[in-house]
Amino acid sequence: SMSILAFYLSYFILISNYSLSQSSICLPKNHTALFIFGDSLFDVGNNNYINSSTFLQANFPPYGETFFNYPTGRFSDGRVIPDFIAEYATLPLIQAYLSPAGFQDHYIYGVNFASAGAGALVETNQGLVIDLKAQVKYFTEVSKQFRQKLGDEEAKKLLSRAIYIFSIGGNDYGTPFLTNLTSGAVLPCPQQKFVDYVIGNITAVIKEIYNEGGRKFGFVNVGPLNCFPLLRMAINSTSLSACLEEEASAIARLHNNALPKMLHGLEKQLKGFKYSVTDFYGALIELMKYPSKYACCGGGPYRGDNSCGGKRGIEEYELCNNVNNNVFFDSLHPTEIAAEHFAKLMWSRNGDVNEPYNLKELFHYF
Ligand SMILES: *[C@@H]1O[C@H](CO)[C@@H](O)[C@H](O)[C@H]1NC(C)=O
Ligand SMILES: *[C@@H]1O[C@H](CO)[C@@H](O)[C@H](O)[C@H]1NC(C)=O
Ligand SMILES: *[C@@H]1O[C@H](CO)[C@@H](O)[C@H](O)[C@H]1NC(C)=O
Ligand SMILES: *[C@@H]1O[C@H](CO)[C@@H](O)[C@H](O)[C@H]1NC(C)=O
Ligand SMILES: *[C@@H]1O[C@H](CO)[C@@H](O)[C@H](O)[C@H]1NC(C)=O
Repeated sequence: SMSILAFYLSYFILISNYSLSQSSICLPKNHTALFIFGDSLFDVGNNNYINSSTFLQANFPPYGETFFNYPTGRFSDGRVIPDFIAEYATLPLIQAYLSPAGFQDHYIYGVNFASAGAGALVETNQGLVIDLKAQVKYFTEVSKQFRQKLGDEEAKKLLSRAIYIFSIGGNDYGTPFLTNLTSGAVLPCPQQKFVDYVIGNITAVIKEIYNEGGRKFGFVNVGPLNCFPLLRMAINSTSLSACLEEEASAIARLHNNALPKMLHGLEKQLKGFKYSVTDFYGALIELMKYPSKYACCGGGPYRGDNSCGGKRGIEEYELCNNVNNNVFFDSLHPTEIAAEHFAKLMWSRNGDVNEPYNLKELFHYF
């Protein structure tokens, strides 16, 4: 039809401008795209488009009330971490891959594959999420499109300059707790073996992206799981120090030890491979020393019952008066103001929070 023809023509014009001249007005000179993978910390609405459960969706009020004024699917009152990273990198807002807006700009600035509830293991919330392997499969389709439309050389340039950021693992470790709140925490054993599976699967997807041309990878590690209001409520731990000692946080720490070791190994093995790990675990504990341990939105102890929005089996929920006094918006997810704080750390802090680079350094490294 005419409209499809017109679409392809405009597409061709955009792409040919790009190919003909790097300094074309269509694109900034040192163009760096942002590809986003992982879970609800990074999801900007992919789960709106799959047959997920409301536990893994946030496309109803009061989600989104702060910044967008409507629920976008982000698990936040407003923006999530990748929204801020895109802003610092002077990129437009990076869209959800499955959203109709996802194809905007032909993925030239990147795209977001993250899915709330997703883990590195296929079994984690299976059937309700886009697991990490499936996310990377979508990415290889995008990569193929780049090659077809831009030619091998330009595609390679785009993919090797791009940044690939990940928030993954929390659900692999947290879900065994969440599915069995009343009976107490029983994790698959032995724990180290389970961590090895998670790390092994993350390693495999990094290598796959590397083979497509990816070189610059940014990770956040896994948070102190027992400090999230949902788990706090379940375990009814009453102090920060108690929350640190719990089993769920212990397995998170095993993961957080293994992740940088694995990445360091890849750096030695894969030519041109560069990475950043942000200590989300430490940053979250640091931040929680000050504002409330309570979620802003929800009910029960710590407002940790995951009822935010009233669509997950419990209709009544409370909403705090000033969302900016809270680290958590709902029982598991940061408020916009906390996400901004984490994004700033990822972008520009050194040493104490990021190893061996921060994201700003990765963005400006060619
Ligand atoms: C692009 O990157 C090159 C190599 O790092 C650098 O010399 C140049 O100044 C950059 N140009 C812009 C416009 O940032
Ligand atoms: C969606 O998921 C539910 C629960 O797993 C299932 O019962 C239903 O058949 C699924 N619907 C579709 C269209 O796949
Ligand atoms: C759930 O609790 C039961 C009873 O304590 C236990 O046998 C089972 O292993 C737990 N499952 C998970 C996934 O923790
Ligand atoms: C990936 O996870 C699966 C379980 O989902 C496990 O059987 C497999 O060994 C893991 N792969 C690696 C490379 O660790
Ligand atoms: C924790 O459990 C105790 C005993 O069941 C209860 O009295 C207390 O209110 C609970 N604390 C919170 C914060 O829910």
